[in-house]
Amino acid sequence: MNTPLTAAYSPAAFRQQAHALVDLLADHLERAQSGTNPVLDYTEPDEQLAYWQTDFEKPVNADPLPLLTDMIQRSIHLHNPRFMGHQVAPPLPLTALTGLLTGLLNQGMAVYEMGMTANALERIVTQWLATKLGLGSDAGGLLTSGGTLANLTALLTARAIFAPTDVWEHGTTDRLAILVSEEAHYCVDRAARIMGLGTDGIIKIPTNERFQMQTDLLETYLERAKTQGLTVFAVVGSACSTSTGSYDDLSAIADFCEQHKLWFHADGAHGGAAVLSDTYRPLVQGIERADSVVVDFHKMMMVPALVTAVLYRRDADSFRTFQQKAQYLWADADAKDWFNSGKRAFECTKLMMSAKVYTVLRTYGEAIFTENVETLYDLARWFAQAVSSRPSFTLAVAPESNIVCFRYIGDGSQSNQLDAINTQIRRQLLKDGQFFIVQTSLRGQVYLRVSLMNPLTTTEHLTALVNEIERIGADLTNLSNSDSATYSA
Ligand SMILES: Cc1ncc(COP(=O)(O)O)c(C=O)c1O
Repeated sequence: MNTPLTAAYSPAAFRQQAHALVDLLADHLERAQSGTNPVLDYTEPDEQLAYWQTDFEKPVNADPLPLLTDMIQRSIHLHNPRFMGHQVAPPLPLTALTGLLTGLLNQGMAVYEMGMTANALERIVTQWLATKLGLGSDAGGLLTSGGTLANLTALLTARAIFAPTDVWEHGTTDRLAILVSEEAHYCVDRAARIMGLGTDGIIKIPTNERFQMQTDLLETYLERAKTQGLTVFAVVGSACSTSTGSYDDLSAIADFCEQHKLWFHADGAHGGAAVLSDTYRPLVQGIERADSVVVDFHKMMMVPALVTAVLYRRDADSFRTFQQKAQYLWADADAKDWFNSGKRAFECTKLMMSAKVYTVLRTYGEAIFTENVETLYDLARWFAQAVSSRPSFTLAVAPESNIVCFRYIGDGSQSNQLDAINTQIRRQLLKDGQFFIVQTSLRGQVYLRVSLMNPLTTTEHLTALVNEIERIGADLTNLSNSDSATYSA
């Protein structure tokens, strides 16, 4: 009997809809990559919500294509070469196709039978990356849903191994703490608070003029923590930081951790991929000595969100993070079996994320990751040079990665309005939709920020961006000079 439910599972309908969707996406890709259309058609949140609320009231439509077309149009287009905003990759089209496959197969992964291939591919992909990082022959790890969860996972492992009490079993009243750069991603702070460390337990080490952790202060901060009754168990190095893309001195952190018997965690969510380039590998010197490392494939490795590796120098450590005894899932809860994903990942049911990475490696080889990292890091250096050669701009710091922070300063006549002017520039760019960049606050000042995530971005696009910012900036400055108007940020 054919019911609406059985019809919805029809292979014939799937075939027809999938062909139509792939055509739609290929057309979208062509348009987006040509860079002729806006990166986004910005609408205010309430307006956007109202649009979809009206849509939701419409009668059911058996043809999903108009709806899917609408979703594409009302989204930001990462494949547009003028997308230079947040650290999210324009995915390789192949990974979207793999996503179609993994979506349909829906391998839950927590136990081996529910993800036989998924678990095996995860093993291979994590071992591959651990080798690239130079973590040694005992290394291994897992994939999880994003850098935020990955950093929490690694810090939970660190606490399980280095804290004086067994927190998992008994809880603790110990005042535990971690040392981390003040420029680390906010998710490290969040992870520490989730773990009950509180404000005192997140000890922020000041950064130098290049926004890198001042590792020579680690000793002082550790001593101070001890006198305050805190037990430090880990140091987190950023490779690289989020705002400016600065790499901490990982070798210095490794030395310090070795000396004081502390866990060394490297947050390489964004910049860990530098290990894949001979040119940029020196930036992560020392990462091979980390106890744990996090790397996002959905940032520098062109895979759709979320795919993150949590890697350990000693694979066995990963089994100490969570110590659940779920007998209905695993016959031997204590066995360190790599093939039961749920034993060491936060998730129970987990996406078959390994397939996307594995398919890229098998189809294009790891050289494609190298090319992406080098293209984007090189481009950032070119852009920084272009910006600093113009007197109306100042650069926050010479870029180490593919992130560049800079500030429009105009002719200097509005020096007390620059935060407001830069905020306005970014707002204007967002509304125009021709470029997508973001802003950040550095040492209390507003800076414009680009993350060059799209390897199809060229120096021509970047020149056009700088010209456009200069034009908007000059307009705002003239307006301000003539009206003595003030801008509110
Ligand atoms: C250094 C760093 N760590 C962690 C994260 C969080 O990663 P995710 O967005 O995958 O949760 C980010 C995100 O930008 C980051 O830059």
